[in-house]
Amino acid sequence: MRKMIVAGNWKMNKTPKQGIELLVKFFKHYDFERSMIDESARAFPEVILFPPFLNIADAASLCGGWDVKVGAQNCASFSDGPYTGEVSASMLRSVRCEAVLIGHSERRTHFGEAGKALSAKIDQVLANRMAAYVCVGESLKERNSKKHFAVVTGQLKEAIFHLKVEKLRNIVLAYEPVWAIGTGKTASPEQAQEMHAHIRNIISKKFGSKAGQKIRILYGGSCNPGNAFDIFSQPDVDGGLIGGASLNPRDFVNIIKIAAIVK
Ligand code: PGA
Repeated sequence: MRKMIVAGNWKMNKTPKQGIELLVKFFKHYDFERSMIDESARAFPEVILFPPFLNIADAASLCGGWDVKVGAQNCASFSDGPYTGEVSASMLRSVRCEAVLIGHSERRTHFGEAGKALSAKIDQVLANRMAAYVCVGESLKERNSKKHFAVVTGQLKEAIFHLKVEKLRNIVLAYEPVWAIGTGKTASPEQAQEMHAHIRNIISKKFGSKAGQKIRILYGGSCNPGNAFDIFSQPDVDGGLIGGASLNPRDFVNIIKIAAIVK
């Protein structure tokens, strides 16, 4: 049985002060709901937040008391040195950051991230004992021209095919169709399942069926408390990467609650 994950991607929102206020509200709801489903505590999902860089150290101190992890939305593809404006994986690790989002479509679109730079970032993350949350997903044009499976396969190859199978322990995948991110259009549960099964199949073929069965694949793209149940109940969906709704503590906790009871 794969443990579900609910991840919150705050994107470029919240000052450090606003971030703490959001966390305080989140923990108020989270604590209450968690105590309500104590009996099934083992089914409670892993929860991880990806705030902006400036919030990570504070968030990690606050979240430590609650079994909630904190990750970063990006990191450098180099270990250290003259790379003005970059933040290295080891710097992140030093403030108790436990994971890094890699290859989010907004970084691919606005910052031209692709190919070797992404696989190098993943290497940095893994070398610093963090988990890499690797995002893949097709554009609407690619889906309409029926290239979506090939596009996602290509993104996976580029990002993680160079890894040894044991490294997959620290890889989480997120399928985020670009046309569903921040648009209010979600993939249907069937579309999500179909792509998640394809991704698992690719991983099984490359790394063996045990690795394929073990790897967790999150869905992301306009996920909210109204659609999370149907999506999370699909057999190959292991939770969600939540953008907009993670900024609303009540909605985010409701999504966590759904992940706790759905399977
Ligand atoms: P969204 O974002 O939930 O606001 O669509 C998801 C993401 O970009 O990770």
